Amino acid sequence: MDFILELDKKRQRIDQALLKYMPKCMSSYDKIIYEAMEYSLMAGGKRLRPILMLQAFEICGGNNISDIEAFMVSMEMIHTYSLIHDDLPAMDNDDYRRGKLTCHKKYGEDIGILAGDGLLNTAYEIMIKSCLEEQNNTMVQQKLKALEQIGNAAGVSGMIGGQVVDVLNNAEMNLDMINYINIHKTSAIIEASLISGAILANANIDEVERFRKIGRCLGIAFQIQDDILDIVSTTEELGKQVGSDSKNGKATYVALKGLQESKLIVDELISNALDKLQKFNSSKAIFLDELILHLKDRKK
Ligand code: IPE
Ligand code: IPE
Ligand code: MG
Ligand code: MG
Ligand code: MG
Repeated sequence: MDFILELDKKRQRIDQALLKYMPKCMSSYDKIIYEAMEYSLMAGGKRLRPILMLQAFEICGGNNISDIEAFMVSMEMIHTYSLIHDDLPAMDNDDYRRGKLTCHKKYGEDIGILAGDGLLNTAYEIMIKSCLEEQNNTMVQQKLKALEQIGNAAGVSGMIGGQVVDVLNNAEMNLDMINYINIHKTSAIIEASLISGAILANANIDEVERFRKIGRCLGIAFQIQDDILDIVSTTEELGKQVGSDSKNGKATYVALKGLQESKLIVDELISNALDKLQKFNSSKAIFLDELILHLKDRKK
């Protein structure tokens, strides 16, 4: 298997699904909101979260991608909304995202805020519709449970809560607070992607909990790596402005512990995630194994 080729195929498949599920504009008056939503959504993200969801689904025995497509798309919409709002002047005040101008730079702050709201709401509309249209009662229950996990992870006890502590970020930050931020603002959504994929495949509780732990290692590692790249990468390579954290005076894991120790922690978390994945003892886990390894030294 050529991993990069396979990864690219998966991304393209997700891009097609995203376009299919994007709501269609019905009136010329509010056309701009659909444009702004699609602009950010289709700007070319890594699609990591839906890919993780699909991998967990397949490892737990799921085989029909159409059972899960609505949830994959919704997760990416929620993630994209979080990026649009994260970039706003009141938050990180960044001008570039996914290699293009940020949503508010392109469409203005008012439409930027509404485009984020639009993507968030659309995600739940899509998932609810998928539950209502489901014929199989067991699957309806699985979809509702997945929806609950996603809602919790995106909400105040998850990503929003983490972002709150992130924006309050001040000089007195300690490691405990930084871990809180990383677990909530980033890991929660990554964990929920894996967990919901497993739940949608009707996985047992042990499998779901194993994916929660894998997601936790991966999620924290992902954010620390993001903070490292904010220092060592370039705007061209990342597609977003480097130096954003220091510009905003953010205390990150890297600011506190230094690049070298941060990299060691990333490596440790990644090998921890890989160990836990081994327990599935399944040939279906090969791609996820490679993906996790790939994330260890990701450049963007
Ligand atoms: C960026 O996420 C925000 C963080 C949680 C660090 P990604 O690095 O996955 O961004 P895209 O989706 O590829 O643009
Ligand atoms: C944001 O973390 C995580 C979100 C919930 C969006 P960052 O602020 O570090 O993400 P980037 O670097 O702007 O992508
Ligand atoms: Mg931020
Ligand atoms: Mg940011
Ligand atoms: Mg960052």
